[in-house]
Amino acid sequence: MADGRVGHSSDVHDRKALPRTIAIDGPAGAGKSTIADALAQRLGYLYFDTGVLYRAVTLAALRRGLAPGDHPSLAALVEQLHIDVLPPTLQDGRGLTVILDDEDVTWAIRTPEVDHNVSAVSAQPAVRQALLQRQRAVAARGGIIMAGRDIGTVVLPDADLKLYLEATPEERAQRRAVEEQSRGLERPFPEVLAEIERRDDIDSHRALSPLRPAADAIIVDTEGLDIDAVLATIDALLGQRA
Ligand code: DC
Repeated sequence: MADGRVGHSSDVHDRKALPRTIAIDGPAGAGKSTIADALAQRLGYLYFDTGVLYRAVTLAALRRGLAPGDHPSLAALVEQLHIDVLPPTLQDGRGLTVILDDEDVTWAIRTPEVDHNVSAVSAQPAVRQALLQRQRAVAARGGIIMAGRDIGTVVLPDADLKLYLEATPEERAQRRAVEEQSRGLERPFPEVLAEIERRDDIDSHRALSPLRPAADAIIVDTEGLDIDAVLATIDALLGQRA
């Protein structure tokens, strides 16, 4: 594994003053991927959405009929899998291309079934441990924006800039519902909301590296803000640091 995306360089900021490693954490639907992708393109950094790793492991487990709580089987499985994360290979709305053992699973990892099981799979210590080193190896390549749940707290505790995006469950579910509709997935809103709340609960209460802001993270409240407004907020933060 894993490549990421190298976007366009930007003249927005003085490059010398820019943070080289940026961690973006937050709950499902907070806008991490969209913001990280846009920011990476502007700064010419690698963008790495770590959630796709947990999703790919979950998809592989479901296909093998493994229960999300089957610790020994998951531990063995995660060691065998080959997951690659590449810049988009098709222009079909994807931000990254995800390859699982030679198969393009970019959309297969975004089904409601994977959504429903991914938090339980990612709570397994063996899964987290195996993926931790892989994430750090990607970050060692230099200018990087890494998005996830535990990037600022565990994966890159020395990141130059740590952002924690948040919004109410209702707003995040609304965004998720719109995103799913754009992919032809129709689910009743209460179901999307319940799923978001369920994942919030598992992600923030698991024993190992639970979802929470790092002590030195900057909290960005994205409630009611569109992408441009969130980017403007982050630009202002980067400007203050320059
Ligand atoms: O960001 P996402 O919704 O694609 O992430 C899917 C799941 O993966 C999320 O519910 C918890 C897990 N995850 C994690 O535990 N740690 C990360 N750094 C990223 C994702």
